[in-house]
Amino acid sequence: MGTNGCRVGQTEQMAAPLPPYDPATPEYQALVDHALMTTRGVRARLDLERDVADQTIIDCIDVAEQAPTGGNNGSRRWMIIRDQQTKDRMAELYLSAGVDWVIKAADRLKGSGHQNEALMQGAKRLGENIARTPALVIPTIIGVHDNSGRPGLFDSVIQSAWSFMVALRARGLGTVWTTMYLNEADAVAELLDLPAEVTQICLFPVAYTLGVDFKATGRRHPAREIAYFDRYGRTLVGEHREPRSVTEGPGMMVETDIKASPELVWNLVADIDLPARFSDEFKGATWDEPEADIDVGSTFTGRNELASVGAWETTSYVAQWSPPTSFAWHVADPENSVARWRFLIEKVPGGSRLRFHVRLGPGPTGLPEDDPDAIAARQDQFRVNMMRTVAGMKELAEQAASQQPKTGTGFPGLGR
Ligand SMILES: Cc1cc2nc3c(=O)[nH]c(=O)nc-3n(C[C@H](O)[C@H](O)[C@H](O)COP(=O)(O)O)c2cc1C
Repeated sequence: MGTNGCRVGQTEQMAAPLPPYDPATPEYQALVDHALMTTRGVRARLDLERDVADQTIIDCIDVAEQAPTGGNNGSRRWMIIRDQQTKDRMAELYLSAGVDWVIKAADRLKGSGHQNEALMQGAKRLGENIARTPALVIPTIIGVHDNSGRPGLFDSVIQSAWSFMVALRARGLGTVWTTMYLNEADAVAELLDLPAEVTQICLFPVAYTLGVDFKATGRRHPAREIAYFDRYGRTLVGEHREPRSVTEGPGMMVETDIKASPELVWNLVADIDLPARFSDEFKGATWDEPEADIDVGSTFTGRNELASVGAWETTSYVAQWSPPTSFAWHVADPENSVARWRFLIEKVPGGSRLRFHVRLGPGPTGLPEDDPDAIAARQDQFRVNMMRTVAGMKELAEQAASQQPKTGTGFPGLGR
């Protein structure tokens, strides 16, 4: 029942249930944000013993159907699989689509401390028990995705499927977005009598969750690192202030994917002189104590040159030195730096993602404090040299990688 007394979807003209808090109040925001931040994927904590009422699933689909739709075109169709024989067959297809391989990999990783160990144990438990899940739900859409880019197909179903997940969460249920089974999409279509022109999006195993205390994940980027203002790459790292000023942390992020291991990329990042090969502003750098171990607090002297300014030298302080993932340094003053630079290396399927970030300030930069045009021009100037640097490192790392024997590349469809 909705809190206004009518079951969701019961009336011809759909009524949104009245929330306990008015929208735009802190209480309402906290509820919605919490639901959005804690609805990612539940595998190991699905309650396989407790049944789920058909009406609960229908209510969640009614909620999901309120999601935005291209042209107000209602082309989504939902499969709810409850019949045990059909679920058994779905389980066979789920396993033969590649999940049997996941189960073997989970056994290999057990106790290894690998970053994917918990995820793989969850995937194994789900794979072995999928036929015992109270309901399997497949959102579909009428139409075949032909990469034409027209709105109304995937663009009109993904958000609805996500709303379905959040609606489940609000009711104490959970699920996980699975797509690996799509390797057997044709057999699933045949089993479920899906017409040829209907596209399956994913498979949701739906159940109550064992407990409801789910947390936000730390494995996402802070918005200020990946949200760019006005031009791609222009970050704003510090606290927001109007008007924007140079002390507030305007910066630049460039990144590139590299077909090489983080260790190979790190070898290049750790060479502080190397960017001089690619940049026309940075001319080189040397460690102030070349024989000492490098760690937080180590210093190096960098040489720079710009036609408009001439040549200058800076002292930089290492703020982070974590092989093979991050190297950060602050220029001129460790507490009140002129600029903060950072290389980040992430493992991604097929290799590494190298991210290179600079943040201006908060110390005196020599730029006019509150002149957005001057700040933007400096950001763009950084971009050119930073892009050359990551492109140069990519080339070198891939050359090095091509001389190494091949290794496996993670687990498709199962995140990092
Ligand atoms: C497009 C997509 C495909 C996915 N496919 C699968 C899958 O086939 N099997 C599975 O167990 N999880 C699958 N997942 C779930 C993710 O692996 C992951 O569990 C989810 O994003 C939450 O991860 P987190 O809690 O580590 O942040 C998929 C997720 C997405 C968004």
